[in-house]
Amino acid sequence: MGGTGTLRLTRRQCGRNVLLAAVGAAVPAWIEAARSDGDEGQGVNGPDSLRAHAALRGLRYGAAVIPELLDVEGVAAGNTTDAYTQLVQGQANILVAENAMKWGALRPAAETFEFGQADRLMHFAALTGDAVRGHNLCWHEALPAWFKTTATKDNARKLLVDHIQTVAGRYRGQMHSWDVVNEAVNPKDGRADGLRNSPWLELVGPDYIEVAFQSAAAADPSAKLTYNEYDIELDTPEQIEKRGQVMLLLRRLKARGIPIHAVGVQSHLKADGPQPGAGLVDFVRQAAKMGLEVYVTEMDVNTHSLEGGPEAQDVAVARVYRDYLGMMLAEANVPVALTWGITSARSWLNESKQPWARRGDGSRQRPLPFDDELRATPAFFAIRNAVDGARAPAIPPGAAPVTDPSGLYKPFPVQGSPTTQPATAPAQPAVPPPPPFSTHPAIPAAPPAQPPPPSR
Ligand code: G3I
Repeated sequence: MGGTGTLRLTRRQCGRNVLLAAVGAAVPAWIEAARSDGDEGQGVNGPDSLRAHAALRGLRYGAAVIPELLDVEGVAAGNTTDAYTQLVQGQANILVAENAMKWGALRPAAETFEFGQADRLMHFAALTGDAVRGHNLCWHEALPAWFKTTATKDNARKLLVDHIQTVAGRYRGQMHSWDVVNEAVNPKDGRADGLRNSPWLELVGPDYIEVAFQSAAAADPSAKLTYNEYDIELDTPEQIEKRGQVMLLLRRLKARGIPIHAVGVQSHLKADGPQPGAGLVDFVRQAAKMGLEVYVTEMDVNTHSLEGGPEAQDVAVARVYRDYLGMMLAEANVPVALTWGITSARSWLNESKQPWARRGDGSRQRPLPFDDELRATPAFFAIRNAVDGARAPAIPPGAAPVTDPSGLYKPFPVQGSPTTQPATAPAQPAVPPPPPFSTHPAIPAAPPAQPPPPSR
């Protein structure tokens, strides 16, 4: 395996740690109950794993992974002793590359593609039978250095289309879903349409989003095409506004007959402060009415501003997982939840030097179902419990959201794009579909009503 040496545990450690459930003092009764295995040391693997519990309920649990850490050769030979590999293999039934499928990883130069690590993940998933999410085809971050000097208004559209055709085309028929466009909305940028001032917007125009989805549909017709976004979970004024703008974007895409099948709610949450609630549930249900699935794509729980030791962190983090996944997985159109990493040993929150990631006491964050030594944290049991209880609505259908976001969904003219609806049209009733939106001669316009591909 091409490991970086940053996380290698011995076989003995692996056996000890992965088999051990988290042992902790001051753990509330609900976490103790959630463990429910009654036989500490045997309760997190095989039939007790997140993977097995999710599969029993027709759900998928998964994690962002680092392909170079996966012992693909060992898995192929049936004799891997690598702790990280065994953990991923044992717990997840859907995977996403944390970085390996981004532009910056795939495009060392404008003319070349480097698929080594991305292929490594696909090979691993083929061996383990895991589904794979592609992340991502179009984002304002993680662009290679050459992009700044090479991409222009004249060639950016072609660059985008070619990239998507090549990357999504390479894995055609093998992807559960693709994050086609990532984080395109940012009301703070002050545009009427709520879009982020990204390089793609600047170089291609606001319809770069349509271009990306149509290119992805042409390249891989069986992947669920997803719009992925962060900071849309809470009922705070900023996040209500952003969520509303995301809904507007989804309506714009649907109204134009653009093939989109799902919304990714990243779910980078905090252990303290306001928590997600009825506004997000309302969003999920609006998405359901539009025929969209919703995926929890990048969940972790940040404790940078939470005081207390590891036990206090664990309890607070587990509570967020319990409440959030309990709420989200109760919705029938939420079949998938992934955490952003599986072990705090390799969480971006522990790698970042940003003030919103560093704990005041200098201790490490514990944002994931497994800790630095690959022991199950209370969050593991909270996730498993939420999976077990999935499908019982936490918020009764019809309950009013904290803030009615429908006012935010009113249509508006989009500069540089064909108008989706007259500005005075009501938001909710069916509107006559506009003509299909064609963006590239090589890509046929999608039919107005495109059913999502069958569930995988
Ligand atoms: O691999 C290089 C290494 O060679 C170099 O020495 C080092 C020096 O800084 O950088 C390494 O690359 C870093 C890479 O992570 C791998 O660790 C990049 O600088 C760093 O920017 C990159 O950060 C990633 C970030 O996205 C930007 O792409 C994080 O790992 C990743 O967790 C994060 O993931 C994003 C999702 O894609 C979208 N949603 C938010 C989420 C968290 O920010």
